[in-house]
Amino acid sequence: MLSNHNLGLDLMRATEAAALAAARWAGRGQKETGDGAAVGAMREVLSHVRIDGTIVIGEGEKDEAPMLANGEKVGNGDGPAMDIAVDPVDGTRLLAWGMRNSIALLAGAEGGSMYNPKECFYMEKLAVGADAADVIDLEAPIGENIRNVAAAKGKTVDQITVGVLNRDRHQDLIAAIREAGAATRLFTDGDVAAAVMAAHPDMPRLDMMAGIGGSPEGVVTACAMKALGGRILARLWPTSDEERQRTLDAGHDLDKVLDTNDLVTSDHTLFVATGITPGDLVEGVTYLPDGGARTHSIVMRSASGTIRYVDAYHHLDKVEEYQRRHEVAGIDWK
Ligand code: FBP
Repeated sequence: MLSNHNLGLDLMRATEAAALAAARWAGRGQKETGDGAAVGAMREVLSHVRIDGTIVIGEGEKDEAPMLANGEKVGNGDGPAMDIAVDPVDGTRLLAWGMRNSIALLAGAEGGSMYNPKECFYMEKLAVGADAADVIDLEAPIGENIRNVAAAKGKTVDQITVGVLNRDRHQDLIAAIREAGAATRLFTDGDVAAAVMAAHPDMPRLDMMAGIGGSPEGVVTACAMKALGGRILARLWPTSDEERQRTLDAGHDLDKVLDTNDLVTSDHTLFVATGITPGDLVEGVTYLPDGGARTHSIVMRSASGTIRYVDAYHHLDKVEEYQRRHEVAGIDWK
């Protein structure tokens, strides 16, 4: 079992570093370089954290972006065994285009407790907060889910808003949500932040997150749901016959509805996010006239149910340290 020490605060330094390294790339149209900067900075800080960590979910395979590889050991080895899921930039496109809501993410749980969906890049997902956790059903039509969530929350259906990734594959889902009488909030990228906002007791504008998104993000979301008392239901969604076969060969059941507990079995989870570009869940990095920078993070721990917001000032030396190695050629930062 993880100790009572909140390792989330130590791990937050890794998402802060990733955000500080990546934010300089905002709006420069270079998805992979921005992601690479975040990966490098995150890896560097993680090596000093007192954990015996293993990367179970490394970001990047889906689009061959740079990654903290699956199976890679992280931490100084001198602490509890932990499974780590990283997404140094969730919303690489948002970062490259200079749009809102790209965040650096990391989730942790007791060693051996995270689901590994490696062979299958996408999942169908449905996520809600504690107040509606008992009433969702991935196999039921979305309209029925909306009505049940509304009843559980003491709202009318027209007061329900469902977050959905704006993708062609979701056109029927979006139509069904509106047909049921609820509203959609379409987002360009970042279904982890959308799920967290849907489940967050203090963010009433979003009630549910639904649709198909990345499998790694599903596991990260499960760690957040444990800390929020929320729930995610998911089902693997292969996009080709080859991927389907690979997933089956790896022993996965394509029909199984995976519950939060299947995605992460441990009840000791940590979830950390730092804003890169300005955002709805957390604010982005602000570079200051003195060369320092300000970051905003959220740190959640399931053992206590605490949700912390950390607003940090980073001295010029630290900001430079994370950026020197990941410099954007030809740009004078000062
Ligand atoms: P990346 O930053 O890795 O590109 O992920 C962004 C994201 O929007 C995730 O939040 C989401 O789960 C996934 O991509 C959806 O995949 P796709 O963009 O292929 O529909």
